[in-house]
Amino acid sequence: MRSEQFRELAILPGANRYGEKEGFDRIALRPGDTVSIVGSTGSGKSAFVNDIEVLAQGDTVTGRSILINGLPPSDDMVRDPAKKPIALITQNTRVIADLTVERFLSLHIKARDTDAHALVEKTVALANEFTGEKIAPGMRMTSLSGGQTRSLLIADAILIGQTPILLLDEVENAGIFKEKVIRCLKHYHKAVIFVTHDPLLAMITDRRIIMKNGAVTAVLEPGGTERDMVLHVSGIDAFLVELRERIRAGDLIGADLLKNPVVPA
Ligand SMILES: Nc1ncnc2c1ncn2[C@@H]1O[C@H](COP(=O)(O)OP(=O)(O)OP(=O)(O)O)[C@@H](O)[C@H]1O
Ligand SMILES: [Mg+2]
Repeated sequence: MRSEQFRELAILPGANRYGEKEGFDRIALRPGDTVSIVGSTGSGKSAFVNDIEVLAQGDTVTGRSILINGLPPSDDMVRDPAKKPIALITQNTRVIADLTVERFLSLHIKARDTDAHALVEKTVALANEFTGEKIAPGMRMTSLSGGQTRSLLIADAILIGQTPILLLDEVENAGIFKEKVIRCLKHYHKAVIFVTHDPLLAMITDRRIIMKNGAVTAVLEPGGTERDMVLHVSGIDAFLVELRERIRAGDLIGADLLKNPVVPA
């Protein structure tokens, strides 16, 4: 399904680990929406995005169902990956094909009537905006790091697959520049769900799904109420990014880091 045909994905409730109905009637996701999913380890976050990815019809452990544009998805959409409007990228997503980045992207582009060479360059350039470790078209897919792979697949889903719905399961741990990713996904009007343990990411999405015991217990819409705190947390995050970079570079951490202007008051 192409982006322009997608209007809405709806999640209908299932039951928690104890068989009790979940705390929502319907969660709808439209182009441009950003949603985060938070909850402790084992609370069912990955199960939630997996339900979406497999287009569950009450046939998974949670009992949830998914509607696309208000209807149960066609068999075609369930079976044929090319027709599925969803890309799921997880911490474990790896590309095992032994190809160069350029060849991998070209194969994906091939079926489409576009200027393949320009699109490869554009996709690699976009991926390089998401990651600090630069990707070159001649690198082998199997030699990319976890963060590089995820960045490339996000850029690929945006520019080549033109997938309207992206599900990202804890990709922030891979050293991806998350604010850039969010800004870009919004720019391209994607519907995105982030499974995350990262407070800043959870705060910069439009809605926040809270999970417990395998079920959704609340869907928060902070609106502007967290705006001041987002600025504050963004400062702390920038400080931690800098700290992480210095530690990675082998620096000893002295108090001079506190003079860094990004340190929040
Ligand atoms: N509603 C449910 N009913 C029964 N089992 C469930 C339900 N939801 C999730 N589970 C199961 O619970 C286990 C943990 O769920 P899941 O992996 O989704 O947790 P998680 O929140 O992603 O944890 P982590 O933060 O560690 O990644 C899985 O085996 C999953 O299949
Ligand atoms: Mg998980």
